[in-house]
Amino acid sequence: MKHLCTLCCAALLALSAAAQPGYRPTPENLASRQQFTDARFGIFLHWGLYAMLAQGEWAMTNLDLNYREYEKLAGGFYPAKFDAQAWVTAIREGGARYICFTTRHHDGFSMFHTAQSPYNIVDATPFARDVLKELCDECHRQGIRIHFYYSLIDWWREDAPRGRTGLGTGRPEGTEDADSYFAFMKAQLTELLTNYGEVGAIWFDGVWDQDRNPDFDWRLDELYALIHRLQPACLIINNHHLDPFEGEDAQVFERDLPGENTAGYSEQGISQLPLETCQTMNGMWGYKITDQNYKSSDELIRYLAGAAGRGANLLLNIGPQPDGELPAAALERLEEMGSWLRTNGQTIYGTQAGPVEPRSWGVTTRKGEKVYVHILDWPDTELFLPLPASQLRVTGAVRFADGTKVRYHQDNTGITLRLPERPETPDCIIELTTAR
Ligand code: GLC
Repeated sequence: MKHLCTLCCAALLALSAAAQPGYRPTPENLASRQQFTDARFGIFLHWGLYAMLAQGEWAMTNLDLNYREYEKLAGGFYPAKFDAQAWVTAIREGGARYICFTTRHHDGFSMFHTAQSPYNIVDATPFARDVLKELCDECHRQGIRIHFYYSLIDWWREDAPRGRTGLGTGRPEGTEDADSYFAFMKAQLTELLTNYGEVGAIWFDGVWDQDRNPDFDWRLDELYALIHRLQPACLIINNHHLDPFEGEDAQVFERDLPGENTAGYSEQGISQLPLETCQTMNGMWGYKITDQNYKSSDELIRYLAGAAGRGANLLLNIGPQPDGELPAAALERLEEMGSWLRTNGQTIYGTQAGPVEPRSWGVTTRKGEKVYVHILDWPDTELFLPLPASQLRVTGAVRFADGTKVRYHQDNTGITLRLPERPETPDCIIELTTAR
């Protein structure tokens, strides 16, 4: 089975590797990549009609819900407590520098006002507000980037190509019409890139739905060229779990840091593009009432540092409730991350991966002549860093928290830090000053 998947992936890759052949990012795109990389921390928001079912964003297909029944959820969608200002404020104060919002997920419902289908939050719900517009305006006001998640899969539209999911939603057979579906997606992407101001990224998902159909053409060349033409600075990110295709501006990993593969989505290599890891705060992307299995703030802080130490951003997910509020458990964690970042953000934002590869004890980040050693899990007062002296010479070491000197010994193989006491949690940061 795994072998078959690998074969399919290879075939998909062969077909799509040059989604936008000859692509040369513009100077504004390169500047946007740098801004994205410097941000290091974003919040993912999975919000749609599925919040009402409270079982995650896959409820429609997992429960084989009939599309004519599912769409009736729209008639009752009235998230009375939705407040874009409150969301953006909490997220910004949590230290995140961008938001990625699900404009349309696999269930096919558009969370923005689109002229391409009445099945959208303004025309199909009593709420009748363009939440995307409110969110974008607020992000622009508060100076934080907004990215749009956009699903390539659609379990509701009759013309949508059928892959391996959404087959039990009752749509009549023989209604697929790729030309009509792609015209719809292009028209929606045009709306998204012309009606909502500056968009930091379009974040695609769902290429993998056709992994048993290697000849399937997602027409990414057309979609990518359209996006880059409408907003050259808008980054294209595609969660296809494969090596990046030409035309993409950043590479994302799902539920794993680059170089790890605990979730099984990350057999691909690590590219030279800006990197991002998306991860859940609990176990699910969309709101799930029975999932209170939230990671602790300390765990999330360590994950953020772990991402930065691998040169990657963390896109951390929250599933807003059906009433429009962010779950209290998520807000609590945001607050704690924000408070940690206010003190320690200098060792995360605007950094690159440091000179020491990620180790079992933690990671390093680097900014100019400073190297930050993030000790995430180490029970002892002595720590050896394999820092080849030919690469780097350390001229000073202090605890980042209070500037107190840390004793060290350096030889040709590396540097040994002598910590005054056991490293504190969640992240004991030692700042090294280096001379080349
Ligand atoms: C997976 C899930 C999808 C979710 C995405 C976020 O692709 O299928 O529901 O939106 O991950 O990374």
